[in-house]
Amino acid sequence: MPDVFTPAALGPITLRNRVIKAATFEGRTPEALVTDELIAFHREMAAGGVGMTTVAYCAVAPGGRTDRHQLWMRPEAVPGLRRLTDAVHAEGAAVSAQLGHAGPVANAASNRAPALAPGRMFNPLGMRFTRSPDVAQLAEVVSAHADAARLAEQAGFDAVEIHFGHNYLASAFLSPRLNHRTDRYGGSVENRARLSREIARAVREAVGGRLAITAKLNMLDGVPGGLALEDSLQVAAWLEQDGALDALELTAGSSLLNPMLLFHGDAPRKSFAATLPIPTRWGFRAIGGKFLREYPYREAYLLDRARQFRRELAMPLILLGGITNLETMRTAMSEGFDFVAMGRALLREPDLLHRIKSDPATRSACTHCNECMPTIYSTTRCVLRLEPPARLGGDTQQGE
Ligand SMILES: Cc1cc2nc3c(=O)[nH]c(=O)nc-3n(C[C@H](O)[C@H](O)[C@H](O)COP(=O)(O)O)c2cc1C
Repeated sequence: MPDVFTPAALGPITLRNRVIKAATFEGRTPEALVTDELIAFHREMAAGGVGMTTVAYCAVAPGGRTDRHQLWMRPEAVPGLRRLTDAVHAEGAAVSAQLGHAGPVANAASNRAPALAPGRMFNPLGMRFTRSPDVAQLAEVVSAHADAARLAEQAGFDAVEIHFGHNYLASAFLSPRLNHRTDRYGGSVENRARLSREIARAVREAVGGRLAITAKLNMLDGVPGGLALEDSLQVAAWLEQDGALDALELTAGSSLLNPMLLFHGDAPRKSFAATLPIPTRWGFRAIGGKFLREYPYREAYLLDRARQFRRELAMPLILLGGITNLETMRTAMSEGFDFVAMGRALLREPDLLHRIKSDPATRSACTHCNECMPTIYSTTRCVLRLEPPARLGGDTQQGE
């Protein structure tokens, strides 16, 4: 069984250990560009001992952002990103850019660009209908991922993580509930997987062999008629066969329809409602319990499902979800996972790994209250930390 704290290869790169900071949208890019606060956030994660930190998220097109304060990959963003990657490297960690298109999770009103979805549907986030891209527009989405990967390389990133989860665009195409297309991008599992596979191959052609390429894939959406585990296993097998990815990170849930499946633990209904504009807030009062449906927290809560992927795949896998202490990391290693990814526990204590190394019995102070979740609309942080980072002034994303 590999030791979680020894160096490990991830495609063409080597990480100093097997712990990756999972993507947690930072809310530190008010002008859609890197800020000193964003650099400080990732420097702190790197100084805390992770093998690699993940910048979240880097949209591949302006309309692929969840709102217009999010960074999107363009030449203008490269100098700031270069400062960020330099700062992370100076602390001895590697750095990955999470690349994706939010699709139906994009806020069209804020972006002032239509949200894309497999078909036309009402998007409550932007209070607009989505646009259904034709085949030529899908080809543009695919090449936007490749362009973004090239820019990530220019900016000094060691890796890119492609977002195939949470009902963002590629994941919405995987979902039979959201994808009713009758062209070659809809219908059979093979057709629904086409967009993800094309994106992975295009990114490989752009940066493969130089940057590590991972993808964050939904094992299941957790909504009636959504992507089921059986289909996702098939998609993962094709992704493995295509050989475009160096590792898969396994996730679950839908930012659109069932966000709490991503997290487990308490549903922060009140503070989430407070981030919504008034009419939506009233609507949320009526359906909030259903939307933020609670799942009891337990360590490694996605392991049972991830194990099935481990059984069927040979490629490196990253276990995610409720990993907060050395015992759970060791369980992941003993079950054959190559890396672990951690989100909330590191928001709570960025130096957790150092503490675990000096005392293996260390337990995380994260209470999975999930109050960090609504903070993405201002400045992402753990509300239990004694000294929360300074709030970025002025124009927050709230209520757009
Ligand atoms: C505040 C917050 C923001 C998040 N933002 C993203 C994101 O931008 N992209 C993504 O793929 N996942 C995002 N996630 C999900 C995490 O990457 C991870 O899947 C989830 O928190 C479960 O891991 P954990 O138990 O280690 O926290 C976010 C999670 C939190 C708590």
